[in-house]
Amino acid sequence: MTNIPFKKPIYITKPLLPDLKNVNEKLKEIWDSGWLTNFGAQHALLEKKLKKYLNVQHISLFNNGTNALMIAIKALNLTGEVITTPFTFPATPNSLTWNNITPVFCDIDDKTMNIDADKIEKLITPKTSAILAVHVFGTPCNIEKIQKIANKHKLKVIYDAAHAFGTKINGKGIGSFGDITMFSFHATKLFHTIEGGALTFNDKNLKEKINLLRNFGIKNEETVLAPGINGKMNEIQAGIGLLVLNMMKKAKKTRKSLYETYEKHLKNINGIKLLQNKVNVKKSYQYFAVRINEEEFGTSRDKVYKQFKKYNVFTRKYFHPLCSEYQCYKHLQSAKITNLPVAQKIGKEVLCMPMHEGLSKKDIENICNILKSFKK
Ligand SMILES: Cc1ncc(COP(=O)(O)O)c(C=O)c1O
Repeated sequence: MTNIPFKKPIYITKPLLPDLKNVNEKLKEIWDSGWLTNFGAQHALLEKKLKKYLNVQHISLFNNGTNALMIAIKALNLTGEVITTPFTFPATPNSLTWNNITPVFCDIDDKTMNIDADKIEKLITPKTSAILAVHVFGTPCNIEKIQKIANKHKLKVIYDAAHAFGTKINGKGIGSFGDITMFSFHATKLFHTIEGGALTFNDKNLKEKINLLRNFGIKNEETVLAPGINGKMNEIQAGIGLLVLNMMKKAKKTRKSLYETYEKHLKNINGIKLLQNKVNVKKSYQYFAVRINEEEFGTSRDKVYKQFKKYNVFTRKYFHPLCSEYQCYKHLQSAKITNLPVAQKIGKEVLCMPMHEGLSKKDIENICNILKSFKK
């Protein structure tokens, strides 16, 4: 059967949009309060609800994930070098650079596409202050091993959980591991506040420092204690977040069914590799990533990406190029191609498929049939 292009473009993601009536009511509530930013009622309520939802001990909200990450790095007093992954969004290594820290790229694991914990230790130098790992596509990193290495070498651990909203390991929120975890609430993410983010952590002593750094370092009207920046989430962001949070249960159910439809139709195709499921991990269902092996599939990932466009399907080559290939990082010793063979391979194979609540199971079946038709 020949496949027909979609009438309307199918994008990789689409923001969850609360009912406009509810948005108007929320705006009226905010307007009536006369309080638009600087930790009002919406902010307080969202913070409380997210703490519970994410199953974490402490949380601070931010105006975006990147500012949150930059402040996490500052709050932990990191210096020198931080070991991180090249297979991530630019915000991860850039947050280090903005803190005058050199990112040291570590190769990734072939199964999870996360930092390869077995390759971290050989990159540690006297200048290393932390490990900044990313739960790529919501798959948890090797948390135990990373913590063991950190304890042994007295390093801090930060997790970038921008892709892992709601992920749990053995029932524990993904934001409860390491020293600090960052979440992004950008509109393209599963849960969003249009732009936004959060830091979660177990050490209650960090709260005051993180919150100071988030608000210019201001302690009170006449005292500035630290060179903070503006990381505040405003009331409209928080209000939208509260509405989106109410939609989460249904959205996750829909995404789970779409995810499983992809798995059902793509699991036994030579040349297509899917992420493996783990029984102790509750997924976020934020992304659906496939790996296309050109030799086995007969068509390269790049060709698949291009051909999909002819069918009005817009996939994404996350993360290509690798961060280690950017102009600003390629001079680093750790960025050398020969140091990152797995990341190099995976960077050429991964394709993120459309995944959002606006899609039906039938849409996913059609997308899978189109993909199968590219096999040679
Ligand atoms: C892995 C990763 N880290 C960090 C960020 C940055 O978050 P934000 O856009 O909220 O600043 C993103 C995405 O936006 C991301 O995908």
